[in-house]
Amino acid sequence: MITVEGLSKRYPLGERPAVDKVDIHVRQGEFVAVMGPSGSGKSTLLNLIGGLDVPDHGKISVDGLSLHNLSEKRRTLIRRRKIGYIFQNYQLLSELNVKENIAFPMAMDRCPREEIQMRVQQLIHALDLKGKENSFPAELSGGQQQRVAIARALAMQPRVILADEPTGNLDRRRSYEVLEILSRLHREERLTIIMVTHDLSVAGCAERVLLFKDGRIESDIRQTEVNLQRALEDFLAELQA
Ligand SMILES: Nc1ncnc2c1ncn2[C@@H]1O[C@H](COP(=O)(O)OP(=O)(O)OP(=O)(O)O)[C@@H](O)[C@H]1O
Ligand SMILES: [Mg+2]
Repeated sequence: MITVEGLSKRYPLGERPAVDKVDIHVRQGEFVAVMGPSGSGKSTLLNLIGGLDVPDHGKISVDGLSLHNLSEKRRTLIRRRKIGYIFQNYQLLSELNVKENIAFPMAMDRCPREEIQMRVQQLIHALDLKGKENSFPAELSGGQQQRVAIARALAMQPRVILADEPTGNLDRRRSYEVLEILSRLHREERLTIIMVTHDLSVAGCAERVLLFKDGRIESDIRQTEVNLQRALEDFLAELQA
């Protein structure tokens, strides 16, 4: 579903590449967590995969479509249709209400009005946002804002969800709710999910964990390995040493 080969990105003034010759293959329906120290390149990686940023080298394909070599316009289109993006700070449009925020990608894609209304109603229901349709982001709790952001990410029925610390600003209970939603999408709709997180218990919900360090993948652990928790703890201990 997602193939990354020889991916590298160095920011202007960066001493070394933020992402350094990375190869990743993610199968359709896989739920992958990405962990690693601050500054190790996790967000950069996600932005590259999501087509929000352009690599210096390497290839990325999502659902059989190559993102490199595309015009900006075409990339935007593919990104909107295939990929749902969830950010730590929600990134809702403050001047739009809940319904309008959720509808935004569909409106940008010029979907028919009735189709938009139907989908928005469906998502309001699925994400338990009933009664909040006309509220503005500033009037919502963090958990509610993140649920609106998830609804917006799902509006175009993407096959891939990229989530950058989706629970980073939420307390335990709200984090758990957001994780429940992601796990359910993964289980029931076979969505492919890549989620960056700093939280061990959050990463534990994924089937596979990529440990990132200095722009490279240090290890790639499958949840079926009984020692996942041990491996993660060792990795964190090593980083703190
Ligand atoms: N827009 C930018 N311009 C220049 N350098 C950047 C930019 N964004 C990130 N960097 C640098 O690239 C490296 C990787 O950053 P990135 O944001 O990908 O890390 P991260 O693993 O997501 O960290 P965190 O866990 O703190 O979110 C860091 O050294 C950072 O300072
Ligand atoms: Mg980051």
